[in-house]
Amino acid sequence: MKIVKRERNKIQAEEIANQKAIMAQIRALFAARPLAYVDTYGCQQNEADSETIRGMLDEMGYAFTTDEFEADLIVINTCAIRENAENRVLGNVGALSHTKKAKPSQTIVFCGCLAAVPETVEKIRRSYPQVDLVFAPNLLWMFPELLRRVLTEKGRVFLTDGGDGAVAEGLPVKRDGTVKAWFPIMYGCDNFCSYCIVPHVRGRERSRDPEHVVDEARQLVADGYKDITLLGQNVNSYGAGLDENINFAGLLRQVCEIDGQFLVRFMTSHPKDASVELFRAMADCERAAKQIHLPFQSGSDRILRLMNRGYTHQDYMAKIAQAREFMPDIAITSDVIVGFPGETEADFEDTLRLIENARFDGLFTFIYSRRPGTPAADMEDTVTHEEKHRRFDRLIELQNSISDEQHSKHIGKAMTVLVDGESGDARYPLRARTNGGRLVHLNGDLTLVGSFVEARITHCNSWSLFGEA
Ligand code: SAH
Ligand code: SF4
Ligand code: F3S
Repeated sequence: MKIVKRERNKIQAEEIANQKAIMAQIRALFAARPLAYVDTYGCQQNEADSETIRGMLDEMGYAFTTDEFEADLIVINTCAIRENAENRVLGNVGALSHTKKAKPSQTIVFCGCLAAVPETVEKIRRSYPQVDLVFAPNLLWMFPELLRRVLTEKGRVFLTDGGDGAVAEGLPVKRDGTVKAWFPIMYGCDNFCSYCIVPHVRGRERSRDPEHVVDEARQLVADGYKDITLLGQNVNSYGAGLDENINFAGLLRQVCEIDGQFLVRFMTSHPKDASVELFRAMADCERAAKQIHLPFQSGSDRILRLMNRGYTHQDYMAKIAQAREFMPDIAITSDVIVGFPGETEADFEDTLRLIENARFDGLFTFIYSRRPGTPAADMEDTVTHEEKHRRFDRLIELQNSISDEQHSKHIGKAMTVLVDGESGDARYPLRARTNGGRLVHLNGDLTLVGSFVEARITHCNSWSLFGEA
C-alpha cells in the first residue's frame, strides 16, 4: 500500500490524479453500467462524504439505485457517535447477508466513522463476512484504489487506520439537492470533549484553503444553489494552521461577498470559540443567515469541566446574550447530553435552568452513550438507565413548551422564506425555511421551489410553522 504523501497536510495533486486514472480503469471494466446503493448515517459531514463517494462512483461508471437486492455495490457510510447509531448500522449490515446470498457478485463496502473504531472493525472482520471493503473516513480519497483491489483481487480489504488525516482537493462530488448544498470547510476535531469519539475517528483539525472554499461557494451559487451550509466540527476555529492569516469570521465575509441571491449557514460552532468578531460579521452580511447552532451540552459547571468543554454556564449565557445584541432576531439552537457519568439531580437542574433562560428555538437532546476509547468511558457511571430516561423526558417537555412559544411568536408575521422542496402534504405542498432555518409548510405553487418568497405565517406546532405564499 502506498504511503500517504503530504505537503502541509495536503494530499498531493498527483495522488488525486492517480485516483482519477483508477476511476477510468474501473469504468473500463464494465460492459454495462453497474448499480450502486449508498446508504448514509450520521451528520452532514457524512452526507457530504457520501456526495463525494457518489461523485467518484459516477466517474467509475456506476448508476444509482435504492434497492439493496438489485445493487452490484453497496456502500454503508456509518456513524459512531452513539451506541444506538452503531447498533442500527450493524443490524442493517447483518441483513445484507441475504442480499449477498441472492447476488453473490455483490460488493459490500463499510466506511465512515465506525470503520475507524478498532472494536467495531474487529466485529466486522469476525462476524460479517459479507463485507468486502472497510476503510476509515480519512482515507476516503483512496476509495477508487481500494475498490479496484477488491474488484480485481477478490479478497477482503481492511484499511482502518486513517492517521491524523489530510485535506484532499479536486475529488468529484455528486450533490443530492438543487437548492441546499453543504460543503466541508475543515475536517477533524482537536477539542477532545471527554465523551466524544469524533476526534478519535476523524483525526486532527485541518482547514481547507480559503481560495478553494470561496471558489466552491461561487460555483454553487452559479449552479443555482440558494442555501449553502459551511461544515466543520468546530467552524469557529477555521484557519488555524493555514499560511493565510484568516479566521472564520473573515471566511464568512468572503463567501457572503459572492454576487447572487443566496443564504450562507454554518455548523457547528463551539461556544468557547464563538467570537464577537463572528457575530459582527453575521450581522453585517445580508447573505449570512441569522442562525447559529451552539451546543451547550450541560448547564452544570462541574459536568462541563468533566466534559472538557472549556466554558462555564455563565460564559455560555453571556455568549448568547452577545449574539442577540448584534442580531435581536437570531435563531439559536443547541445540543444537550443528559446522564453524563456521575450527573447528579443538582447538575441536571442546572441544565434545566440554562434551557429555561436561554429560550432556544430548537434543542437536540441526547442520552449519554459510552464510547470506547474516550476518557468518559472510564468514569464511573452512577445514574440508572431509568433515571436518565426520566431526565430526558423532563427536558423534552420543557423545551417543547419553549419551542411552541418561540414558534407562536411568528404567527401573523410576514417574512421572506426560501422554498427548498415539496412537503408531501397536499394542503401545504411546499417546504420552506425561514432565514433562521425554521421549517415552514406553505401552500403555494410547486413552481416556487428554489425561490425566495414572501409568506404569511398562519399557525404552528412544536416542529414547524405553517403559512401562505
Ligand atoms: N462538533 C459538534 C458536535 C458533533 S456530535 C459540536 O461540538 O458541537 C453532535 C452531538 O452529539 C454533540 O453536540 C453531542 O451533544 C452529541 N454527542 C456526542 N457524543 C455523544 C455521546 N457519547 N453520547 C451522547 N451524545 C453525544
Ligand atoms: Fe466532539 Fe467536542 Fe469535537 Fe464536537 S467539539 S466533535 S463534541 S470533541
Ligand atoms: Fe457520526 Fe462521524 Fe458525524 S461519528 S456524527 S458521522 S463525524
